Amino acid sequence: IPVDAFDLVIFGGTGDLARRKILPGLYRRLAAGQIPPEARIIGAARSDMDDAAYREMVSDALVDFLPKGELNDETRAQFLSLLSYVTIDAKGTDGWAELAGHMRDGVVSAFYFSVAPSLFGDLAQRLHEHGVADEGSRVVVEKPFGHDRASAKALNRDLAQHFDETQIYRIDHYLGKETVQNLMAVRFGNVLFEPLWNAQYVDHIQITVAETVGVGGRGSYYDKSGAMRDMVQNHLMQLLCLIAMEPPSRFDPDAVRDEKLKVIRALDPVEPHHIVRGQYDAGADTPSYRQDVEDPRSLTESFIALRTHISNWRWAGTPFYLRTGKRLKARTSEIAVVFKDAPHSIFEDSERTHRNILSIRLQPNEGMELGVTIKEPGPGGMRLIDVPLDMTFADALGPDADDVPDAYERLIMDVIRGNQTLFMRGDEVEAAWAWTDPLIEGWQRRGDVPKPYDVGSVGPDDALMLMHRDGRRWREIK
Ligand code: BG6
Repeated sequence: IPVDAFDLVIFGGTGDLARRKILPGLYRRLAAGQIPPEARIIGAARSDMDDAAYREMVSDALVDFLPKGELNDETRAQFLSLLSYVTIDAKGTDGWAELAGHMRDGVVSAFYFSVAPSLFGDLAQRLHEHGVADEGSRVVVEKPFGHDRASAKALNRDLAQHFDETQIYRIDHYLGKETVQNLMAVRFGNVLFEPLWNAQYVDHIQITVAETVGVGGRGSYYDKSGAMRDMVQNHLMQLLCLIAMEPPSRFDPDAVRDEKLKVIRALDPVEPHHIVRGQYDAGADTPSYRQDVEDPRSLTESFIALRTHISNWRWAGTPFYLRTGKRLKARTSEIAVVFKDAPHSIFEDSERTHRNILSIRLQPNEGMELGVTIKEPGPGGMRLIDVPLDMTFADALGPDADDVPDAYERLIMDVIRGNQTLFMRGDEVEAAWAWTDPLIEGWQRRGDVPKPYDVGSVGPDDALMLMHRDGRRWREIK
């Protein structure tokens, strides 16, 4: 279903995110028939260039970043015709009148701040001063949304001076992933799982987001951030919220976000001995973390594993284990709900435990798998084996699975539609920082040194110990 006509201004329109994700995402939505021909996309950045040069730059980006075979000449020409460019000074007055001249009445106006957070306040103010935005406009901001609670609060305050909370769309692209939304559909659209979804039946929950890439060219950003700020405070925290929250009364933005906020506020502080930080070593042909960030003494972590609890009636006593890192064995993201053992075994191989595990795979092969115990086929008596009930979305949905939009595409379309459900609210982001701040401060105070780990491994051994001490095991990263 096409969205309404819009004027979308991308500040930072020549930047990495715009070229890699936002513009190719918009191209794919146009190709899918979701963007009407009356839409306009306006790149805005500091570099001096005209519309033709911008179109050429975007055309190159489409070639570089769209999957092979997706680009066709006709759609490309159509897409490029939607584009224009304005040279703008975020901190001065240049370009603003020209930008105001581009904005049309009667269409949705949206402003994507794909720039450093230090410019958010300036942009909001200029948009207002020069009459570019109005009370119906939408503002999209990217992570990192601050680097601690105080800075996030300041950003919220700056934006709130000119925009209402209902106009602000804080992106966490994990919320745009298909499986993440499916998690809500599975939990709240079936009767099967919800009665078991609590401390009485769930032994523990593990969330793993493993990557094979290193920090590459992003060293200067990453070294000030680390896995805690880059991944845990946002992406893993959002996954944790969706898996643990109470059923919202409606699938609407505030009902969902209220429930997520309650989870974050109920998180126990993490004890220092329940957290493991790691940093990758050099591999045979890959640099070490410290070489990547060009600081031989960096104490920033590229890996985190931790255990936390949620202090509420549903989850009291159920540990939540979170793990993420770069340069690990495989690119795997999974949430695993590990159920308790059957209370009593009537079968002969009762010394073996057979556990039901619901695995929700974000990538690769998005889908779900439920481990169930059955009888081993054959005449060997009542021997039990565990088999997966597999629901890989691509298999279940057939060719439709190819039409699933990527996270950015979906989220940008939600902005145009005015649906905030999959975006973070200001109080949520602040609450998430309030939980991570003391941990980060603790490491800085103690001069905590991350444990080295091998490239292609599953992280430092201490992360394995974190589970072993509790008599549990991490799921395999494969
Ligand atoms: C980004 C982080 O938000 O998410 C990156 O800044 C990380 O460090 C990326 O690599 C992971 O996203 P995805 O969608 O590839 O799992």
